[in-house]
Amino acid sequence: MNSLPANNPEWLIKKIKKMGGTISFYDYMNFVLNDQNDGYYGSGKANLGSRGDYVTSPSMSDDFAFLLSKQIDEWLIQIKNILSIDEKLSVLEFGAGDGSLMSGILQYYIVNNKQILKNVSFIIVEPNKGMIRKQKQKLEKYLQLGFDIVWRSLDELGDRSFNGVILANEVLDALPVERIINSKGKLYRQGVSIDKDSGRLISKEIAMTNELKKSIAIAQENLNITIPPKDAPEGWTTEWHTDNKNWLKGVYKKINNGILLVIDYAKEAKRYYSLSNNNGTLISYKNQKIIENVFESPGNCDLTSHVCVEILINDSKTLGFETIGVVKQGEALLSLGLAERLFEIKNELKNDISKALSRREALLRLVDPICLGDFKWFIFSKFKNKKIKINSSCIR
Ligand SMILES: C[S@@+](CC[C@H](N)C(=O)[O-])C[C@H]1O[C@@H](n2cnc3c(N)ncnc32)[C@H](O)[C@@H]1O
Repeated sequence: MNSLPANNPEWLIKKIKKMGGTISFYDYMNFVLNDQNDGYYGSGKANLGSRGDYVTSPSMSDDFAFLLSKQIDEWLIQIKNILSIDEKLSVLEFGAGDGSLMSGILQYYIVNNKQILKNVSFIIVEPNKGMIRKQKQKLEKYLQLGFDIVWRSLDELGDRSFNGVILANEVLDALPVERIINSKGKLYRQGVSIDKDSGRLISKEIAMTNELKKSIAIAQENLNITIPPKDAPEGWTTEWHTDNKNWLKGVYKKINNGILLVIDYAKEAKRYYSLSNNNGTLISYKNQKIIENVFESPGNCDLTSHVCVEILINDSKTLGFETIGVVKQGEALLSLGLAERLFEIKNELKNDISKALSRREALLRLVDPICLGDFKWFIFSKFKNKKIKINSSCIR
């Protein structure tokens, strides 16, 4: 049993006690990220961007949103032509963070295709009230201009009612996961408990649930992986993304005709569930630094884990999605004109060297192969007519 740091907030201790004294890692991650009063996202404490705790692609500059909007535009035009209906199309963003991506997309359309703003509605699905506040602040000027931007829960959308493009940038990596530990020749879940004497949080092995065992067994059977890997040492640990399939299922149900773009940190199964990846991928961020101890300062840091490439593709296929393609972010953005954008910055900002340099740095970070450039773009589609072929400029 590992002892965790002493800075255990009272609100969390109360919750654990209320739930019988021990909670799963899944519940711990859910509370510290999504508790509406004290969680990192729930309370709105999350601070994204170069001056915040960590950067996401859209939080650095509008260039990511500009390039992605070119792709969204191409998809919307094709969906419109396929449908040949007058119904409004939509762009829906899951987990919109501080609103940077949505703001960048609207800005793209104001500059490049104002007409489309009359024909497209913009929807944000965000469960965390604190983040909704930030998004409304960021999008205030567009709301004032009368653009059709609404916040909805997924349940509020009708089944098979959605026509358009759905985006989820760094959302699956923020969904709570179970942590699985190899101990004494068996698999356990990591639990979080309170030490009776010191009152400090402690890590405790708890039994696997049947549902979890079943989900791992299905993945092992379909994807030729072994969990834990052969000869895994005592304490080998990984994560299990119990929510991803349900999330995909919920999204699938709502789409009539549309494209889903999931962008995230991702690892291939053979690297994810390998001997060398002996502590999984879960990390915590604060002030642009990685914090190895995922129990540090609960509710004040981001917690994130990679998705598994094959499991995500297999889950979406099982549900009925077509996979249009999977491409690395660096390649996708280069195909959408990142190099030209770099050149334009040079011309546009001749008079403001420091602004030009910081935008240039942000653009290069987007394609950096050891960071954001290695993110994967998973492009899935659901069309009533399954034979429909969609062009995607982001895939060469
Ligand atoms: C890592 S941040 C990414 C923010 C933004 N997409 C970006 O790239 O800048 C994760 C976002 O997902 C939201 N989130 C967490 N759970 C979610 C869920 N079940 N559905 C939709 N959004 C969720 C968080 O509140 C937060 O806004």
